[in-house]
Amino acid sequence: MAPPPPAPKPADRNTLTGEIPETKDGVDTDDTTNGIRVFDPAFLNTAAISSKITFIDGGKGFLMHRGYPIEQLAERSDFLETAYLLIYGELPSKSQSEIWKFEVMHHTEIADDLAKVIGSMRYDSHPMSANPALQGRNLYIHDKAIMNKNIIRIIGKSATVAAASMRVRMNRPFIAPRSDMGFAENMLYMMDATSDAENYKPDARLAKALEALFILHADHEMNCSTAAMTHVGSSLVDPYSAVSAAAAALYGPLHGGANEAVIRMIEKIGAVENIPAFISAVKAKKELLFGFGHRVYRNTDPRSKIIREVAETVFAACGHEPLIEVATALKDAALADPWFVEKKLYPNVDYWSGLIYRSLGFPLDFFPVLFAVPRVAGWLAHWKQAIEASNPKIWRPRQVYVGPQVRDYVPIECRLEREIRDGKEGILGLPACILLFFPSLLKVWLNWDVLMILGVIALPVEKKTGCQVVNRLESAPKSFISFPFHFFSGWSVCVRVSLRYIIANSISPPINIKYPSTE
Ligand code: CMC
Repeated sequence: MAPPPPAPKPADRNTLTGEIPETKDGVDTDDTTNGIRVFDPAFLNTAAISSKITFIDGGKGFLMHRGYPIEQLAERSDFLETAYLLIYGELPSKSQSEIWKFEVMHHTEIADDLAKVIGSMRYDSHPMSANPALQGRNLYIHDKAIMNKNIIRIIGKSATVAAASMRVRMNRPFIAPRSDMGFAENMLYMMDATSDAENYKPDARLAKALEALFILHADHEMNCSTAAMTHVGSSLVDPYSAVSAAAAALYGPLHGGANEAVIRMIEKIGAVENIPAFISAVKAKKELLFGFGHRVYRNTDPRSKIIREVAETVFAACGHEPLIEVATALKDAALADPWFVEKKLYPNVDYWSGLIYRSLGFPLDFFPVLFAVPRVAGWLAHWKQAIEASNPKIWRPRQVYVGPQVRDYVPIECRLEREIRDGKEGILGLPACILLFFPSLLKVWLNWDVLMILGVIALPVEKKTGCQVVNRLESAPKSFISFPFHFFSGWSVCVRVSLRYIIANSISPPINIKYPSTE
């Protein structure tokens, strides 16, 4: 009889929570089984992305953009051309360059109201942070008092700035904050108070609910916006600037902007009977189920349970929320579907928070602001911790370069007028090319080998140099070199065009460079 299989090795208890990790055949199935989790402070040795843009060989002191050595670009290119190269991957052809430069130079004006905002800044403001007191210097690393003072200022003012932005939208004058109120209560006061401001007091149930929401949103370890805060802060810039970077990261729809996206999604679904079609679209990857899924939580988001209870309080105070039926039915449908269960997709905090904010009467695009105000505390906590570390280092991830090899700068007159097309046009173009090709082949079948050889030689030369060798030779006076091309006259042009098309499409991928938008 075969010996029994060895007993599975007991999984280690989590030292922080005391929990035994979920296991399958004794193997830890948490997300670390999907790869190695490394501790690499400041990303000293971690590549976070593969990139085709810039390559640096630090040892040799070599730098190139999209394959072009920096020395050649500095000497022969100009800034806008280099910008085009960086963004679209190739040096622009003559017509692309003209359009690009025209477009950029015709988007240089700024709106009058923006000019007024800039004009209202102090003459000694730092141009990067607009804050005259901070100058973006290393003020914090050795001075705890300055650090704490600015932490307090940022948290205190965050609610006031948020409320002021709401008042602008309501076209109402700003209301001064009330330091005798609680944090969330004061924010509600600054947003809601009208003419009788002195006697206005926000509904205590709503103030308590907002306070609870603020606690739930205060921090969530190294999420996208906190990573942005810590990353930007690692350059030792002032925390105001780092908070702006974090706020920008927060309001994307995959992060703190998901609360807004959830409501737009539920409004679009509209009714319970439309849910199956929406679920099918999600499974077909045509839609995203906002408010579901999380990079770290694979079972349940503890915040979503608490927030559901807060929602009931708010609905009791503000009245029935009409979207709740669709939201609940959508959640139930997803949780009952094996596709979502297998992918471990559960409602996250944003699934319910949007409904609460909507019930409270906030406009949709204000929802991420209500996430950002409390998250300021978490951002500052991580920033402080990083700055106070014994040897704070700038965060500087590495990359894996997968772009072009070194190549020489091509003067603009020699650049190909690159075909601007997407896949569809390419497919449509093929039959046209075949139609063009066959009559040519019949007519000049005797010369086919010669043409083939010339085409095969010319194309790689063109590809390498970026010069249109064939066209150039054609436009030259008849000479020994240009003779073969002229010899085959009109039909040979057809053949060469066809050859060029077919070979270019089979040996090089489509060049998906689009002209910049003219909007
Ligand atoms: N709807 C549909 N499919 C999803 C969703 C979703 N919400 N979330 C994940 N998936 C799919 C994903 O496409 C992938 O499919 P496949 O295995 O076929 O490639 C699979 O589930 C696993 O997802 P993942 O790659 O592990 O997810 P991630 O860790 O890269 O992304 C997330 C996490 C939160 C960005 C993602 O779940 C998502 O886009 N959710 C919707 C946006 C959202 O609600 N964001 C708020 C997050 S919580 C608040 C916060 O802390 O910011």
